[in-house]
Amino acid sequence: MNRRFIILTIIVMTLALGGLMGIQIYWIRNASSVKEANFRRSVNEAITKVVSKIELLEKRRSIEKSKPEGLLNINPHLPYDDFLTRSILDSLISRELNIRGIDTRFEFGIFKPENEAYLVEKSPNYRKELFEKGYAFPLFQSDIFTPPEYLLIAFPNEKRFLLTELWGMLLISLALIIVIVYSFTYTIATIFRQKRLSEMKNDFINNMTHEFKTPIATISLACEAMSDKDIMKSAQLSSSYITMIQEENKRLAGMAEKILQTAVIDSGELKMKPELINVHDIIHDVVKNIRIQVEIKDGVIIKSFYASNPRIVGDKVHVTNLVYNLLDNANKYSPRKPMIRISTENSGNGVQITIEDNGIGISKSEQKKIFDKLYRVPTGNIHDVRGFGLGLSYVKAIVEEHHGKISLESEINKGSKFKVFLPFVYKE
Ligand SMILES: Nc1ncnc2c1ncn2[C@@H]1O[C@H](COP(=O)(O)OP(=O)(O)OP(=O)(O)O)[C@@H](O)[C@H]1O
Ligand SMILES: [Mg+2]
Repeated sequence: MNRRFIILTIIVMTLALGGLMGIQIYWIRNASSVKEANFRRSVNEAITKVVSKIELLEKRRSIEKSKPEGLLNINPHLPYDDFLTRSILDSLISRELNIRGIDTRFEFGIFKPENEAYLVEKSPNYRKELFEKGYAFPLFQSDIFTPPEYLLIAFPNEKRFLLTELWGMLLISLALIIVIVYSFTYTIATIFRQKRLSEMKNDFINNMTHEFKTPIATISLACEAMSDKDIMKSAQLSSSYITMIQEENKRLAGMAEKILQTAVIDSGELKMKPELINVHDIIHDVVKNIRIQVEIKDGVIIKSFYASNPRIVGDKVHVTNLVYNLLDNANKYSPRKPMIRISTENSGNGVQITIEDNGIGISKSEQKKIFDKLYRVPTGNIHDVRGFGLGLSYVKAIVEEHHGKISLESEINKGSKFKVFLPFVYKE
């Protein structure tokens, strides 16, 4: 998959996701206006019923008081004190609202605009709210001789009530959106990871082919030379060719071993053979092997052994490879006059090995990645230093097997410092 196609897919998916979210928001808003309209209608129905009940109560009371009534009721209605208390009105309203599924706090009052006064009210604290946001219903409309009075009702928590009605829908939408966004980013991240991995694998195959080709070519040349009878006559020449073949063969075996080792680590079948080992002896041996490569480049390699107890329980072969890999890197990535220092000290309950170089260094962002398998710091198209990108992932695996720690301090163009801590005792 090429980069442009991936970016196009991301853009299309983002747009589709944005569109989907827009539609979702539109539907939720629609649903909320429907809920609001329903609420208003129910309040209307409920309070109209309340109003007619109030009028009925008044009529009954006036009959009881045997007020003369003609065909046309021309008398003003009874004062509210006579037939309606605050609590009766409260229970009337609350009953009618409850029947219609509205069980949120409400405030009410009977307002007489003529006197600008409340004749009955639930609590005096909500007068302003009742007046500004309340629903108003005229009372005793047939009573043409009394100036109009209104039953006002307000719901201080109206918005919250409507929202709780929509809560379920909002939550489900939110959860679905989170799931979609998460899956989307996860998919994109996976695509990029896979792409990087496939590029690294390609680099690895190229590198490996190159690394194997050189010794194979040398061996075949040496074999060709040795098939020449004249050369075979000279003992010195033939022995030098044999040594050459042996050396190259060793190199090939070493490389094959390195690749196999990684496969073993991957399969989780890395076997350790713990025994008492002396870290100083191991470093000594590795330095002896690598010194010549450093000195060819006019460099030096300095050992500083400060650990008073360099003996730990660990796997000799793996710890040797670990030290070799770190020293090999210190040399490989120090292009001019390598100045490599390897030191040891006792810290806590183990030995700390520090390997310091004055090489090209590693930037902060790359420092996290270099322990990944096959990862090599990109240096443009040409890599003048050959390698598989396996060394540090192997080192990390070995350190972890020993329950140790590895850390890195590095600055670009200044150098790098790898610290490896290995505990005295080996825990299975
Ligand atoms: N001492 C160092 N100084 C600068 N860069 C380093 C150093 N050690 C490692 N690196 C960077 O980390 C990368 C990974 O190192 P690692 O040892 O895993 O692989 P490699 O050296 O490329 O190959 P090999 O598998 O042969 O060791 C290297 O490619 C290099 O870019
Ligand atoms: Mg290496």
